[in-house]
Amino acid sequence: MKRPNLALLIVLSFLAGLLAGTRLEKVAFGKANRYTVPLDSAAGAMRPLLRQQNKLSVSKNLTPVELYLDLMKSALMDLIYENNPTVFSLRVSGRDRGGRGLTLIGMKRLDNIALLMNDVLQRHIPGDFIEAGAWRGGATIFMRAVLKAQGITDRRVWVADSFEGLPPPDEKAYPADKGMALNKDNLFAVSLQDVQDNFARFGLLDAQVRFLKGWFKDTLPNAPIDKLAVLRVDADMYESTMEALVSLYPKLSPGGYVIIDDFGCFEACAKAVKDFREKHGIRAPIISIDWTGAYWQK
Ligand SMILES: C[S@@+](CC[C@H](N)C(=O)[O-])C[C@H]1O[C@@H](n2cnc3c(N)ncnc32)[C@H](O)[C@@H]1O
Repeated sequence: MKRPNLALLIVLSFLAGLLAGTRLEKVAFGKANRYTVPLDSAAGAMRPLLRQQNKLSVSKNLTPVELYLDLMKSALMDLIYENNPTVFSLRVSGRDRGGRGLTLIGMKRLDNIALLMNDVLQRHIPGDFIEAGAWRGGATIFMRAVLKAQGITDRRVWVADSFEGLPPPDEKAYPADKGMALNKDNLFAVSLQDVQDNFARFGLLDAQVRFLKGWFKDTLPNAPIDKLAVLRVDADMYESTMEALVSLYPKLSPGGYVIIDDFGCFEACAKAVKDFREKHGIRAPIISIDWTGAYWQK
């Protein structure tokens, strides 16, 4: 059969758009693909964001590794298939309740994970990678993807969570957590089985991923972890943040990084970080990632 003429198809689709009363816009998506989006559709309303997202991909010559990780980010954040545009913008910045996504942390904080992981790998800083507070697993799935993409087989990703949500606030021991009732929010109760299934969806559930199930105070002090190269803490509360830092910071290799996801959005978390740093005389500058995430180098 004769193949349709591409130029003719483009002209016809443009005319069809005009007839339908919609303006058609060309949106580059990836280096090779181009498609048209009616501006008055939900996808059209997403156009500036798609373009922003697209800029990340088209502004440079991407390697296969970068292409894989870009696709992972989009899939983990649920940015690929059409969504409500309001939700879409909140998704990109990690300000919503996740929708269908597997991570709450948004594009910049995912980029930050790749940046810091690649940095410690390049500088041969020894140790594994961990997230304390994993929810549906998205950030840790991304960590495993970074290792996979770089062909690293001798480092592990640790996934620490209760897998049943946050603990009730212990206001006596941790007054900063007063009034935090995140334990009542069922959103955060994601089972270990569900998280493992999420890893498996991406072909990333293997022996390089280890799960620490239970409350941090029970699992982290004696976790069978030797050294860490990146410690990511995403646990919202004072108690949980402090427990993660107390148990895991000593295992962080010099030159490695600690990332605090909730530094900007929960005062209780920021206070735990400040108290911990003060107690241990940590003066390394805290670097902001986005509206809430921050990190420093040990
Ligand atoms: C905001 S969610 C983490 C989001 C996740 N990092 C992502 O990529 O979307 C916070 C998680 O921390 C866990 N968590 C908080 N405090 C904890 C504690 N003390 N012990 C165990 N898990 C805890 C909760 O179960 C929840 O899954």
